[in-house]
Amino acid sequence: VMSLKGRDFLTLLDFSTDEIMDLLALASDLKAKQKAGVPYKPLAGKTMAMIFEKQSTRTRVSFEVGMIQLGGQAMYLNGNDLQLGRGETIADTARVLSQYVDVIMIRTFAHQKVEELAEYASVPVINGLTDDDHPCQALADLLTIYEVKKTFQGVKLAYVGDGNNVANALLAAAAKVGMDIAIACPPGYEPKAEYVEAARRIGEKTGATVVVTHDPLEAVAGADAVYTDVWTSMGQESESAERLKVFQPYQVNEQLVKAAKPDYLFLHCLPAHRGEEVTAGVMDGPNSFVFEQAGNRLHAQKAILVSVLS
Ligand code: CP
Ligand code: NVA
Repeated sequence: VMSLKGRDFLTLLDFSTDEIMDLLALASDLKAKQKAGVPYKPLAGKTMAMIFEKQSTRTRVSFEVGMIQLGGQAMYLNGNDLQLGRGETIADTARVLSQYVDVIMIRTFAHQKVEELAEYASVPVINGLTDDDHPCQALADLLTIYEVKKTFQGVKLAYVGDGNNVANALLAAAAKVGMDIAIACPPGYEPKAEYVEAARRIGEKTGATVVVTHDPLEAVAGADAVYTDVWTSMGQESESAERLKVFQPYQVNEQLVKAAKPDYLFLHCLPAHRGEEVTAGVMDGPNSFVFEQAGNRLHAQKAILVSVLS
C-alpha cells in the first residue's frame, strides 16, 4: 500500500495520477473487505475532528462510519458551536485541534480557509467541500465510473449545469486519470478558470480532453456518464430564483440523455432536486447509479484516511 502519510487532501490537483489510481485500488480493496465482513482496523486509537460550517448528510455520515469501521473515532463539530463561530482564528483552531486529534476534516465556504487550516495544523486536513472544490466526492465518482467501465481511457464524462465546486473537482479528477470531460453550463456560470486551465495542462500529459461549452447536447453527445448537480449550492440561496430561470435549458431529462451512449451512467453527488436539474425519470431510471455513487463515498474516504494516517 502506497503511503500518503501526513499529506493534506484539499484538491485532487495536489495528487499525481499514480497516487489517485492507488487510492482507487485501495478503496476497491476496502470495499471488498467491508462487503465480505472482514474486519480491518488499522486506525485503532485514532481520532478525527469534523468541522461543518454547512449542512451534510453523506459526508458527515460516511466519514464517521468510515472512521468507526477502521477502528478509530470521529467527532462532529458544528462550526457555530466552536469558538471559531465567535471569532477564534482558523490558525489557532488548527493548532489547538492538532494537540488532540490525528486528522481534521472541514466543510466550509472559502477554499482559502481550508488552506489556512492545513497550513497551521500539524495533522492532515481533509477538504469535505468548499465553495471551490469537493475532492472526496470526485474520488468516489472516479471509483463509481471505474467499477463499471474498468478504464478511464476513451471514457467521456459529461457534466451539465452549474460550474460549481463539484464541476471543478471533476475537472481535476478527469484530467488526472485521463478521462475526457465536457462541461455544459450557462454563460457566466463556467467552472473556475484555474481548474479549466489546470485540467487542460494535465490532460496534455494524460490524454484527457477538456471541453467547456454552453451547449448541453454537445457535452452529452456520446457520453459514457452524464453528471449534474444542484443549480443553487449552499451559500447561494439568495440567487435561487434567478438560477432557476437561467439553468432551465440545462436540465438533464429524457430528451437530453438520448444523445449519450445507450448504457450511459447517470451520476449526481446528491442531494438532488427532481424536476429542476434532473427529471425523476432520469434520476430514478435504469441508468442511474446515484446511490452506488453515494455508497462509494464511504470506501473512497476510508482509502484517504488509511493513506494519510498510515
Ligand atoms: N454529496 C455530498 O457531499 O452530500 P452531503 O452534502 O450530504 O454531504
Ligand atoms: N454544489 C453543492 C454540492 C453539495 C454536496 C453545494 O455546494 O451545495
